[in-house]
Amino acid sequence: MELARPSKKTNGTGVQVEDTQICVVMVGLPARGKSLIAQKAQRYLRWLSIDAKVFNVGNYRRNDTPHPSAEFFDTSNAEGERMRRAAAVAAVNDMLKWFREGGLIGILDATNSTKERRRWIKDEMDKHGIETLYVESKCDDEDLIMSNILEVKTTSPDYVGQDPEEAAQDFRNRIRNYEKVYETIDEDENDMTYLKIMDVGKQVIINQIQDYLQSRVVYYLMNLHIKPRSIWLSRHGESEYNLGGQIGGDADLSPRGQEYAALLPALVRKSVGDDRPLTVWTSTLKRTIQTARHLPKNYNQLQWKALDELDSGLCDGMTYAEIKEQYPEDFAARDDDKYNYRYRGGESYRDVVIRLEPIIMELERSEDILIVTHQAVLRCIYAYFMKKDQRSSPWLNVPLHTLIKLTPRAYGTIENLTSSGISAVSTWRGQGSVAKHEDPPNGASSLGTAGDGGVA
Ligand code: F6P
Repeated sequence: MELARPSKKTNGTGVQVEDTQICVVMVGLPARGKSLIAQKAQRYLRWLSIDAKVFNVGNYRRNDTPHPSAEFFDTSNAEGERMRRAAAVAAVNDMLKWFREGGLIGILDATNSTKERRRWIKDEMDKHGIETLYVESKCDDEDLIMSNILEVKTTSPDYVGQDPEEAAQDFRNRIRNYEKVYETIDEDENDMTYLKIMDVGKQVIINQIQDYLQSRVVYYLMNLHIKPRSIWLSRHGESEYNLGGQIGGDADLSPRGQEYAALLPALVRKSVGDDRPLTVWTSTLKRTIQTARHLPKNYNQLQWKALDELDSGLCDGMTYAEIKEQYPEDFAARDDDKYNYRYRGGESYRDVVIRLEPIIMELERSEDILIVTHQAVLRCIYAYFMKKDQRSSPWLNVPLHTLIKLTPRAYGTIENLTSSGISAVSTWRGQGSVAKHEDPPNGASSLGTAGDGGVA
C-alpha cells in the first residue's frame, strides 16, 4: 500500500487534517466485531490516502504466548496479567514510534476493557500531543456474538490446529473471564472523546468529538452495518467512442452495447434472485443510463454525477495516440504516475476517489445495490472493497459486458465475475501503449477470473 507522508496540514487529497494525530482505542469484549471495525476503518482511511494503521495487541501477545487457554485471561493469573500488560505496552510504544514518523490515525485493536487501561492509554497519548478517541462496540445480540465466535474459532491464529468445538468452548470461557472485569464506557469518562456503537449500529452515542478528522472517522463508523448484502458493478455497454478508441465524451451505446443492455436484466436477475429488491445507480452520462434502461421498473434508479467518468479535460474525445502526439509530456507523466496525474482541465484518479467518498458512505449504509458506471470510476470503487493500492488500481482490467458481484464478509470481500458472452472491444491500455484496443496480458492487473470467487 503506497501512502503519502505529507505535511500534517493536508494529505494532498483535499482532506484537511490540520495537525491532528489520533489514537483510536477499540473497546469491548471479545467477539464484538472490534477487529472488523478496526480493519474497515484502516481500509477506508488508506483509500482516502490518510495514513492509518491497526496495532493489534493480540499479535504482540502471540509472540510469547501463541496458543493461550482461557485461564491465561483470568485476572487472578498474575503471570498472564503481566504478559498481557507487556503486550499492550509494546503495541502502544510501536504506535508512538509510528506517530513520530508521521502516521496520522493509529488504531489500537484490543479489548481495552477497563477504565484504568483506557486512562493509561490516554495519558500516554496526551504526553505526545496525540488525541484519543475511544470506540466501543457493545453487543448483546446473541446471534451476532455466536457468529463472531464461529468466525474466531475458525480463523484465529490462537486456535490453529485445535478441535473447533473445544476452541469454541475455550473462547466462551475466555469471554467469561473478560466479563468479570469489563467496564463499559459510562459517565465517569464523559470528559473523553468516544463513540459507543450498540449492536452494530442500532444505536450510537457520540461524546465530545473535537475536530474534523475525528468527525470523519466517527461518521464512517456510524454508517457501518453487517446485514448480509452484495454490491453489483458493471461498466456501461460498449459505446461508439469505445469502438474508435476515444476517451471521455457522452456517446451512445454501440449495437453490441445495446445487446448487453437488453441482456442485463436477465444477468442481474440470475445473480440477485427474483424477489430481492435492488437499487440501481448510474452516472449522468448517456451510456450508463442506456445500459440500465431495460432493468425492471420496480428497481429504484438513481443518477449520480459523482459516478461520471474521470474527466479527461482537454483530452476529452481524443484517442491515446492523439494525446501522445499533441501532449507527449502529459502522456509520459500519466504513465509514470497514473494515480496522481491530473488531465489539463480535468481530473486524476486521486480526484475521483475524493468525489466518490459520499458514494462509499452511502454504499456502507445501504443494502443490495447495482452500480452501472465507467472504467476509471469502477476501478476506484473496486479498489476500496478489494484493498487495491494506488499504484495498481488505475491499471486494473475491467472488461466490458461483465457483471461483477462483491459480497463483503467479516474478513474480506468475496468477488464473482459473470461474463455476458457478448463480445466487446478491450479498452484496457498497457503502460506506454497507444493501441486502440489491446488485450491485457494474462493475469496482469486484472480482476479475478470469470466465475472465480476471489477474496480480498
Ligand atoms: O476508454 C474508456 C474510458 O472509460 C475513458 O472514457 C476514460 O478516459 C478511460 O476509460 C479511463 O481509463 P484510463 O485511466 O486507463 O485511461
